[in-house]
Amino acid sequence: MQRPIAHIAGLGVCIPTRVVTNHDFAERLETSDQWIVERTGIKERRFAAAHETVSTMARDATAAALARAGITAKDLSAIIVATASPDRPLPSTACLLQAQLGAENAAAFDIAAACSGFIYGITIAEGLIATGHGDHILVVGGEKLTAITDQNDRSTAILFGDGAGVAVVSKGARDGRGILSTFFKSDGRLADLLTIPGGGTADPISEKVVAERSHFMRMAGREVFKHAVLEMAEACDEAIRRAGVKPEEIDLMVPHQANIRIIDATAKHANVPLEKVMVTVDRYGNTSAASIPMALADAEASGRLKPGMLVLLVAFGAGFTWGSTVVRW
Ligand code: UT7
Repeated sequence: MQRPIAHIAGLGVCIPTRVVTNHDFAERLETSDQWIVERTGIKERRFAAAHETVSTMARDATAAALARAGITAKDLSAIIVATASPDRPLPSTACLLQAQLGAENAAAFDIAAACSGFIYGITIAEGLIATGHGDHILVVGGEKLTAITDQNDRSTAILFGDGAGVAVVSKGARDGRGILSTFFKSDGRLADLLTIPGGGTADPISEKVVAERSHFMRMAGREVFKHAVLEMAEACDEAIRRAGVKPEEIDLMVPHQANIRIIDATAKHANVPLEKVMVTVDRYGNTSAASIPMALADAEASGRLKPGMLVLLVAFGAGFTWGSTVVRW
């Protein structure tokens, strides 16, 4: 089938209002602003309020995306929520969102691909459109990571933030613009390097799980770092090759925002100069599946993302999973 089959017709974002700085962590954990900035590039991140969840943040982000796409919630044929921090184990966050939006014609389901979830979601949405499952699909990357992070563990607490970003993926090409390539992959042999070991059906929630704090995220940071650099590089190469473009033609690269050092290494490998790379990790920290759509919306709002641009999106996360897409915006 000839691409583009689909394009991104509208973006929206929800950024929680509470700002938590590195200094706030340094007051209660053995860490410092200097360590966090040097090792990660993060200066501050957002924490959702108690009443905010992935579905409510996604709902708030969706209004702008629908308006931008010129449609209403009733025009959506599917809602895909990529999240590692769903509102509940059952039902899907996508169903909770479907009800809040009144998207009465939409199928709804979650995908679990961690930080690569938004790329996986775009890939699935394009496939659904190609097989006749509707004209408009909502792809959400939303996270309330602060709820699954041990706030007393300095090695993870300082990294993660909350937020949601959404994209309406619509049928056809807009003036020849749209999704030119997609790529996604995984290696589950490395599952234990970034995991929540407890609280699932393999080790259901119990006093032991809570006492061991194994219902929170655990990460072997240095190992994850090494794989992130390698797999993000593969993902860049594949999306660029499959799109039939050259690295020097990329106008804007929007990588997953985990660590400024991973972003720098990925851009260098892909031969994309740093001035063409979107960076929000300093302001939002790592928001997992939400990081790419949040950065895209930020790029659009600040005038860095314009129609006609060649855009490379690339992600890596728990699983491990990784993926990429090239879009003519
Ligand atoms: O989102 C998708 C996947 N996630 C990622 O891509 C994250 C990948 N990993 C990373 O970004 C980095 O590995 C981290 C930022 C998590 C850690 O940076 P690092 O340079 O790999 O540090 P490290 O884990 O090797 O730790 C170095 C030292 C250790 O002390 P010793 O053993 O050298 O004495 C840690 O205990 O830094 C210590 N440390 C800290 N010190 C101050 C760990 N966390 C902190 C902290 N403040 N918050």
